Amino acid sequence: MADSNLEAARGRIEVLVTELDQHNRLYYLHDAPEVSDAEYDRLLRELIELETRYPDLRRPDSPTQRVGSPLSEGFSEFEHRVPMLSLDNAMDADELRVFDERVSRELGLEEPVSYVAEPKLDGAGVELVYENGLLLAAATRGDGRVGEDVTANLKNCQNIPLVLKSGDRHPERVSVRGEVALPKSGFERLNARRAKRNQELFVNPRNAAAGSLRQLHDIDIERLRALDFRAYAIGEGLPEDVTGQEGVLEMLECWGFTVSPESRVCRGVDELIAFHEELLHARDRMSLEIDGTVVKVNSLEQQAELGTLSRAPRWAVAVKFPAQQEHTTIKAIEVQVGRTGALTPVAKLEPVFVGGVTVSNASLHNQDEIDRKDIRVGDTVVVQRAGDVIPQVVAVVPGKRKPGTRRWRLPANCPVCNSAAVRPEGESVTRCPNIDCPAQLKNNVRHLASRGALDVEGLGEKLVDQLIDAGLVERISDVFRLDSESLQGLERMGSKSSENLVTAISKARDTTLARFLISLGIRDVGATVAELVANRFGDLEPLMEASRQDLESIDGIGPTIAESLELFFSDARNREEIVALRELGVRWPHSEPVVREGGKLDGKTFVLTGSLEGMTRADAKTRILDLGGKVSSSVSKKTSYLVAGDAPGSKLTKANELKVEVLDEGALIELLESS
Ligand code: IVH
Repeated sequence: MADSNLEAARGRIEVLVTELDQHNRLYYLHDAPEVSDAEYDRLLRELIELETRYPDLRRPDSPTQRVGSPLSEGFSEFEHRVPMLSLDNAMDADELRVFDERVSRELGLEEPVSYVAEPKLDGAGVELVYENGLLLAAATRGDGRVGEDVTANLKNCQNIPLVLKSGDRHPERVSVRGEVALPKSGFERLNARRAKRNQELFVNPRNAAAGSLRQLHDIDIERLRALDFRAYAIGEGLPEDVTGQEGVLEMLECWGFTVSPESRVCRGVDELIAFHEELLHARDRMSLEIDGTVVKVNSLEQQAELGTLSRAPRWAVAVKFPAQQEHTTIKAIEVQVGRTGALTPVAKLEPVFVGGVTVSNASLHNQDEIDRKDIRVGDTVVVQRAGDVIPQVVAVVPGKRKPGTRRWRLPANCPVCNSAAVRPEGESVTRCPNIDCPAQLKNNVRHLASRGALDVEGLGEKLVDQLIDAGLVERISDVFRLDSESLQGLERMGSKSSENLVTAISKARDTTLARFLISLGIRDVGATVAELVANRFGDLEPLMEASRQDLESIDGIGPTIAESLELFFSDARNREEIVALRELGVRWPHSEPVVREGGKLDGKTFVLTGSLEGMTRADAKTRILDLGGKVSSSVSKKTSYLVAGDAPGSKLTKANELKVEVLDEGALIELLESS
C-alpha cells in the first residue's frame, strides 16, 4: 500500500516538474503563458506538498529549487551578490494563521509578533545597484541568482533615482530591490495604441511591464517612462542602524525611493487579516495592480532566527487575493439582439471561478472586437473580472488552439426575426433594422407612444410590456388595431380605462409628418432632423423616394443621417408598416415642399474634402446650399466640383479618375462670390 502511494507520488512529481518547467519557459522566455497565474500556483503548491511529504523524491532540478526565470538571449547577465528570493503563498486567512502560528512557535513568543504588511505589487522584481551613491546597474531578478542587465532601459523609469539622496548616509555599495509596474492608466493607453496598430494586446499590466523592460530593438521610450518603481528591500549594504523592515522602508524613502504608502506595521495575525481586507477594498482605487499582501516579520534579528530556504525566506509570506484572471474555454458564441436592435455576440464559457464569482457568459461586444482578438469557438481564453467590473474575455491563449477551428462571423440575419442585419459604414455595431423585431418591439412601441412622437396618452411602459407579452401587439401598427374588448382581457384594465386608451389612440392618429417620422424610431432621426426633412419634402412619398444625395443637400443633414434614412426606407418590412399605419388612419396635413430659390449653383453638385483654411466645411456647405447647389459626400460621375482642401485623400484620386473638376479654396470662394 505504502509502496503504491510512493509510486503514485513519483509519477505525479514527474508530471508536475515537466509541466512547471514548460510553463516557466513560456512565461519568462516568451512572455506567452498558457496557464493562468492561479493555475500555475496550484501546480507549484501541489509539487511543494508532495516534496514535503516525500523529501527523498525531490529532484535537484525541481522547479521548487529554482526561483524564477531562465535567461533569454540579448541582455548580458547580471549576478545578484545576494540572491533575490521568492515568497511562499498563503491562499487565505486560515493559511496566514498557520504561518503566524509557526513563526510564534519558532520564535518562542507569547505576545503577538510584530510584522510589516505591504501591498504585493504585480510587476517585475528588479535590483538596482548604487556605488558611491550613483546608479551603477539595474537588473531583472532572473532565476534569483543571475538576472539580465537592463540598466539602459530602466534609467528611463522616472522614479528610479540616478543619485541617492542624503549623500553621506549610504554605504559605498548598496543594492535596492523593488518592483517596477505599469500603472493601470498607462496600461490602458498602451493597449489602446497597440490595438490601433493591430499589434497583439498585453493581457495585464505585469506582462506589459516585463515586456517593456526587455525591449531590445526599436525601444519605445514612452512605455519605459510610464513605469513606476516601488522599493521594498535592501540586498547588500544594509546600514547598521537599521533593525527592522520598518527601518528598511524609512531608509529607502530617505534615499529618494518611492515606497508603497499603504505599508503598515501590524501586531499579530488579526491586525494582518484586517489590513489584508482593507487592501482588498482599496485595490480598485490604487494606481498599480496588486495581487495580495506581503507579510514580513519586522525585526531583522527575528528574520535571521527564522532563516531562509533555498527558494523563499521563512519569515515572510504572500497572502493572495482571489485571482482576477483565469483561463477557460469558449463552448459557443451566441448572438443576442438588444432593444436597439444591436446584435451582440456573447461567449458561453466553461464556468470558471474568477474575481470572486463564477463566470459563464461574457459579452464579446461586436465583430471588430472578435476579429482583433481572433476569438473562436473552442479556444482557451483569459477571462478577467476585476472588482465590480463585468467579466471580459481578454485574449486567446496562444498555442492552445485546437486544429480545425474557424474564424467566427456574426450571422447575416437577425437571429430573432431573420431580417438582413446591417452595419452602417464606420460603425462597429451590427443591427437588425426591423422595427417590428420582437427584440426591439417594446422599445419601439414605447417610443411611438411617447410625447414627442404620436403622444398616446396612457400608453406607458408597463402597459406596453403587457400588450406585447399578451400577444396583442406584434408590430407597431397593431397599436391602432386595439379595441376595448381585447384590452379588457388584460390585468388591471377595466372597461373605463380601456375606453380611455382607445380614445387616446384615436386622437393620436391625427398628427404631423415630423411627429410621424419621429415615431418610426429611425436611427439618428430626432425632432430636429424630422422637422428639417418634413419641411423639405412636405410629404412622405417624395421623402421615401429621395436619394442619399437629395437628403444630404438639406442643410443640417450629413452622410450619417442620410444613410440611416435610406436604410430605413429601403427595408421592405418598414415600408409595409408605414402602409399599414396609414391604412389604419394615421394621417397628417400635406404641405408644399420648400424649394430653394433658383440660385446660380442650381443643378451643381459639390463634394467637399480635406480641411479648408478660411471657413469650416459646414460653412462652405451652407453657402453652396444657399446658392441652390447640392452637397454630397461621395464623388461620382454626377459630381460637378470637388472642393479639395488640405490633405484631400482618396476623393481627390477618384475625382481625377472621373475627370471631375477640382477647385481649391480660392477657386471656391471666387465661385461663391462672383455674381
Ligand atoms: S519581498 C525575500 N515585497 O513578489 C522577499 N516582494 O512572489 C522577497 N513582490 O520576487 C520579496 N511586492 O518580485 C517583496 N512588497 C513586496 C513585494 C514583493 C511584490 C514580488 C517580488 C517577489 C515576488 C515573490
